[in-house]
Amino acid sequence: VLLIAHVGAGRKYETSSRIDVLKDALKEGFKVLQKKDALASVITTVKIFEECGLFNAGTGSVLTISGTVEMDACIMTSEGKCGAVSCVTGIKYPIELARLVMEKTDHVILCSAGAMEFARSCGLKYFPSVQPERVKKFHELLSKNDLKYYKKVKDFLDDPYGTVGACAIDRNGLIVAGTSTGGIWGKLPGRVSDSAIPGAGTYCNSYGGISCTGHGEGVLKHCIAYFAGELLEKMDAQKVATHCVEKFCDVSFGLIIVDKNGNPGYAYNTEMMLGGYINEKDLLVFE
Ligand code: GLY
Repeated sequence: VLLIAHVGAGRKYETSSRIDVLKDALKEGFKVLQKKDALASVITTVKIFEECGLFNAGTGSVLTISGTVEMDACIMTSEGKCGAVSCVTGIKYPIELARLVMEKTDHVILCSAGAMEFARSCGLKYFPSVQPERVKKFHELLSKNDLKYYKKVKDFLDDPYGTVGACAIDRNGLIVAGTSTGGIWGKLPGRVSDSAIPGAGTYCNSYGGISCTGHGEGVLKHCIAYFAGELLEKMDAQKVATHCVEKFCDVSFGLIIVDKNGNPGYAYNTEMMLGGYINEKDLLVFE
């Protein structure tokens, strides 16, 4: 029984207030893991990150070049169930919407207007995604940089907000991985991140669960989470995580893993990746 979570990879930044939220989320998620299951635990943990406004997901989401918010999320289980949403706005908890896609539809990914219509049909209320603090930051970035040139996207990875994700295994051996993101500052509207794509930024099979963070285009092109999932058949979580960041050293990213034996794994090739894990014995934060 183990829960591991990350709140983004990128350049070094001041972490203290974010560590408090991270620890609270891990403790809360672990309570749910013990009382319920891995699915409820991952959803609870990611929702805390989405709600707090400190990370690039949900309330803290970054803005597109048009000043809008377009969020992505994906959830996947070791039973082969999966749901994801892309380019959604006006939703408080994208991870919850991804779960509804998984549980209530015959589809895997819903995007844009269709995903939002589905959210309303499920009773999810409108929530203003464009937060004033993010708009202020957007104008600061615009005054300093030409965001139209998307190839400069790596320059924005130093923003101290990250994609969030969690992976858990419960006492029945159910494994679940989930990821949620606002994407990357100044992205073009309609851009789909790795986080929303099963096998790219989020993946789960019977050997383990994986959530990636970092430069989504690179993670997406290499299907890094799927690659890691295949390796988990023969290697433990930490070995796989380390191998992946070495193999894909041209991509700025990090990943967390839980394997079928309840081992945690994490690695990153960015300056830092804030995250942590919790089991019956330990609560460990890494950065
Ligand atoms: N990895 C998150 C993103 O690129 O949007």
